[in-house]
Amino acid sequence: MERLECSRIAKRYGRGAYALRDISLSIPASGIFALIGRNGAGKTTLVRILATQLSATSGSAHIDGIDVLRQAQKLRERIASVPQEARAVGWLTARQSMVSYLLWRGFGYSEAVEKASRAAKQLGIVGSMDLPNRMLSGGNKRKVLVASAVASGARILFLDEPTTGLDPISRKELWDILMSLKGKHFIFLTTHYLEEAEYLADKIGILDGGRLKAIGTMAELRKMVKRHYIIRTLSDGAVARPVSGTLTRGADGHYQISTTESEAYRISKKLIKRGIKFSMNPLTLDDIFYYIVKKPIDADDYGKEESR
Ligand SMILES: Nc1ncnc2c1ncn2[C@@H]1O[C@H](COP(=O)(O)OP(=O)(O)OP(=O)(O)O)[C@@H](O)[C@H]1O
Ligand SMILES: [Mg+2]
Repeated sequence: MERLECSRIAKRYGRGAYALRDISLSIPASGIFALIGRNGAGKTTLVRILATQLSATSGSAHIDGIDVLRQAQKLRERIASVPQEARAVGWLTARQSMVSYLLWRGFGYSEAVEKASRAAKQLGIVGSMDLPNRMLSGGNKRKVLVASAVASGARILFLDEPTTGLDPISRKELWDILMSLKGKHFIFLTTHYLEEAEYLADKIGILDGGRLKAIGTMAELRKMVKRHYIIRTLSDGAVARPVSGTLTRGADGHYQISTTESEAYRISKKLIKRGIKFSMNPLTLDDIFYYIVKKPIDADDYGKEESR
């Protein structure tokens, strides 16, 4: 089976700090892989290395058995990428920009035209094809870029933040498109929308400060955190203080306790008795992300913080 393998990849820009440290992973190169992490975590750096646009300082990577660093040319035929800052040329029509991309990739003219039309149908942008890119909405501009990558026939697609800045409806439209591509392509995407990663991805990687903090399916990530339920309350938290669990304070002022099933039951009984409103849900990727990249306040530390 095709795999994506990284072994101890590190990247240092010039003499600055390391943007990536010791990244090792081995995942099937199929379905959708989502890489998440805060600004500056190193997502784009890793994507650019794997898409053969940037060399690593050390380490190695293979996709489908091809050495990313030493056999870049061979790999390039199989990959297409939409970089984070990609913009279609404003004065070209969507069709012209797609066709020129395909010509640049080495297709003949009539083949390029046909592939562009087919991808436009697949992505639902037929009506935009003869408009200049500058007249398209942000969502359709993005779709043109993704359509170009799809039209190339490359099996492996790198999409760096493909849905950033899209409205919720356009984002969901792009999700449907990505889901429909899943069978034929391996999609490696980055995103700041955690519900997007949770919805789309077969496997998720969490980068933080250039290190891969966790990788796995949602079920595997939940297991890492060990506590499968999350209780949220707006109260000061002291009353909800868990017998066993981890307390964090969200940016929205909510206190949240991640806890086990049996503790969740005990805590919720306590909250009901005291008339405190709360919600209880299975752990989402948001909760897991918070837990992994933001140090939780545990019960003792929390007490100290309250007395400050
Ligand atoms: N060309 C460059 N020269 C120097 N430093 C760079 C360069 N590109 C990125 N960096 C640094 O490398 C680190 C990782 O950046 P990167 O763009 O990979 O993060 P990211 O996770 O994609 O962030 P974002 O979510 O904001 O897109 C950051 O500290 C960044 O400042
Ligand atoms: Mg980035």
